[in-house]
Amino acid sequence: MSNTPSIPQHIAIIMDGNGRWAKQRGLPRAQGHRAGAESVREVIDACKELGVKYLTLYAFSSENWNRPAAEVSALMTLLQKFLQSKSSDLMRQNVRLQAIGQLDRLPNSTRRTLDKIIAETANNDGLTLILALSYGAREEITAAAKKIAQGVLEGRWTIDDIDAPLVSSQLDTAGIPDPDLLIRTSGEMRVSNFLLWQISYAEMVIVDRLWPEFRQGDLFDAVKEYQRRHRRFGGL
Ligand code: IPE
Ligand code: IPE
Ligand code: MG
Repeated sequence: MSNTPSIPQHIAIIMDGNGRWAKQRGLPRAQGHRAGAESVREVIDACKELGVKYLTLYAFSSENWNRPAAEVSALMTLLQKFLQSKSSDLMRQNVRLQAIGQLDRLPNSTRRTLDKIIAETANNDGLTLILALSYGAREEITAAAKKIAQGVLEGRWTIDDIDAPLVSSQLDTAGIPDPDLLIRTSGEMRVSNFLLWQISYAEMVIVDRLWPEFRQGDLFDAVKEYQRRHRRFGGL
């Protein structure tokens, strides 16, 4: 596929189905998460090839903290290992890493690794990879409402200054264009507290394949499906 204007500028993915993939094979759930890391590599490569500018991956939700402690800790360990193993590739691939979510809830060591790689890759200008970690859209929007209320109290804004662009500017995703294409794997038809504000006009593609089975070709197929859509944005 060539880099035509109909290549989505921003793709967001709800990476779902790791647990089911493991269960089908009689493996512990953590093995499914481990296998999912390979799919992350695949989609980064596919996005680079297509010329996609932003890729946001939903890796851990606010609600995922409620899973059994052993699974949460396996996920955090895996995340840290993934980041450490990926840092040189990200530099080589000219990928800029960013993160959204309540990052202060992450274990200190994971947070340090994340901050280090974000700083190292800050000047890369190829793909921007945004990891949603400890992320929940309701929490994000609530935090933005508080920041705006504080700004009004301190006289930086009046009530009349509050409009959609101002709200956008107070979200974790400030400065990042809204996703054009939202993909969810494993066939689930729900949003699960992901980017509620930002996906207002995203095209949704639900893929039956479980996340650890997702390969470059599946991303290309989702983009082809996106290209068949007629985006109207409420107009005619
Ligand atoms: C997605 O896979 C990864 C995370 C939510 C962290 P799941 O762990 O949700 O896998 P299923 O949905 O139980 O199969
Ligand atoms: C959404 O998947 C969160 C991530 C992919 C990180 P979940 O598996 O947590 O969502 P539900 O529970 O099916 O809605
Ligand atoms: Mg799930």
